[in-house]
Amino acid sequence: MKIVLPGGTGQVGALLRRTYAARGDDVVVLSRRPEQLEPDVRHAVWDGRTLGAWAGELEGADAVVNLAGRTVNCRYTDANLRQMMDSRVDSTRVLGRAVAAASRPPATWLQMSTATIYADTRGAAHDEDGEIGGDEPHVPLYWEYSVRIARRWEQELEQAPTPATRKVALRAAMVMTPDRGGVFDVLSTMARLGLGGPVAGGGQYVSWIHGDDVVRALDFLLEHPELSGPVNLAAPHPLTQAETMRVLRRTWGRPVGLPASRWMARAGALALRTDAELLLKSRRVVPGRLLEAGFAFAHPTWPDAAADLVARRRGLSAG
Ligand SMILES: NC(=O)c1ccc[n+]([C@@H]2O[C@H](COP(=O)([O-])OP(=O)(O)OC[C@H]3O[C@@H](n4cnc5c(N)ncnc54)[C@H](OP(=O)(O)O)[C@@H]3O)[C@@H](O)[C@H]2O)c1
Repeated sequence: MKIVLPGGTGQVGALLRRTYAARGDDVVVLSRRPEQLEPDVRHAVWDGRTLGAWAGELEGADAVVNLAGRTVNCRYTDANLRQMMDSRVDSTRVLGRAVAAASRPPATWLQMSTATIYADTRGAAHDEDGEIGGDEPHVPLYWEYSVRIARRWEQELEQAPTPATRKVALRAAMVMTPDRGGVFDVLSTMARLGLGGPVAGGGQYVSWIHGDDVVRALDFLLEHPELSGPVNLAAPHPLTQAETMRVLRRTWGRPVGLPASRWMARAGALALRTDAELLLKSRRVVPGRLLEAGFAFAHPTWPDAAADLVARRRGLSAG
């Protein structure tokens, strides 16, 4: 297979490009920086905004998986929010133009989106027909902007005039991998320091997916041409934040976790130069379409996923 990964230099990109390269696929990463990647991964430069020679890499590709976008792990200042929006909308738009102009366009375009598109809820979980966020009366107004980013991101995908290319919007939950710097690493550090207790009561849900299941779900989507449109990438059994961290602490052998109030979460987020929305929004998302189509998760439950990730993390640290 030939697979093109715009934005494939980040956390999810590392997972995908290593997997694809290891099985002998022709992997091309589009990045803004000439970067040293694995020897069997090719690299082309783009700016995420304008057409260029990079567009030729799409010719004859089996799939393009667009991962580009400024990290959301930052403080939600006006400038950062604007960059979060523009990097996603612009890169998706220009990719659409390149796919539309290709003489042998990719068969499938898997476009990253986010489970944050759904409304904050502690009630029934959202499958792909779930309520889109932005109008919840009980959440801070600025959370609406994250939903708006997700909606515009998906709009660019929908509007791209690419009749020969199947398009899927991946509404991804937090991707859990054992790598350093990822979300699992951050949560594990908190758990190991005894800080990973309930935050603001801990009743908010945490949706997540094991990295292995991201790879497997993308393979499944490539093998099922009847699937297009939004697809939730989330494990089927999200837990509350309190329970998620309790399981993680237990798995690391640290039963005690200090609770944090809402203001402490905000102060902590400020100190870590990130935003409290990532901790406080209740994301209760389930993989309706994947399950309906017969996809089987390798790690459907958090205790099992956490045990696997902690074992691999220990292996990495020992290595
Ligand atoms: N990781 C998760 O848990 C998760 C969950 C849900 C959704 N997502 C979404 O999935 C995508 C990939 O996630 P990730 O964790 O791999 O992200 P990441 O580590 O932040 O990597 C994203 C890549 O996007 C590129 N990028 C950053 N700013 C850009 C800009 N202004 N224009 C064009 N490209 C830009 C960067 O590549 P270069 O610097 O090489 O150009 C970067 O390596 C993101 O869009 C993210 O929002 C991730």
